[in-house]
Amino acid sequence: MRPLSELLLDHDELDRLFLCHQEALLSRDVAEAAKWLDRFSRLLSVHMQREENCLLPAFEALALEIPGGGPELFRAEHRKLGKLLDELHKRLEQLADVPDLNARTVIELLDSEFTFKHLLQHHDSRERKVLYPVLDQHLDDARKLELWRAMEAQASE
Ligand SMILES: [Fe+2]
Ligand SMILES: [Fe+2]
Repeated sequence: MRPLSELLLDHDELDRLFLCHQEALLSRDVAEAAKWLDRFSRLLSVHMQREENCLLPAFEALALEIPGGGPELFRAEHRKLGKLLDELHKRLEQLADVPDLNARTVIELLDSEFTFKHLLQHHDSRERKVLYPVLDQHLDDARKLELWRAMEAQASE
């Protein structure tokens, strides 16, 4: 049975997309940077919905007491990631109207992206250490298959 932790491959892909976005920013290509950020946002949105609608309810149903592993922490981090990402989109849109984009402006944006990246890494580590290992350890194959089907049905909606 495919372990649910296979969904962590999305995290690697998200890191790659964000890196491409920042590379484009360093080249001061705002349109290219926006394209990569849009791709990143779409994948993050699908990924978080799969977790919120399928995996976190299964995790909550286990009713385990795990320090640093309360389901509300994952949901709160998702909300915060969404909010910070909206702000990054807005800041990038503002740069699209700047005629001669200087390096300092780009550095300011990269700095503001640091908080977002840091939260993303923190969230990745919490899910890697707690959410996915617990689900893979406690759920039987039939339940995992059910969750994969539910997540795949959701992605094709
Ligand atoms: Fe995740
Ligand atoms: Fe997550």
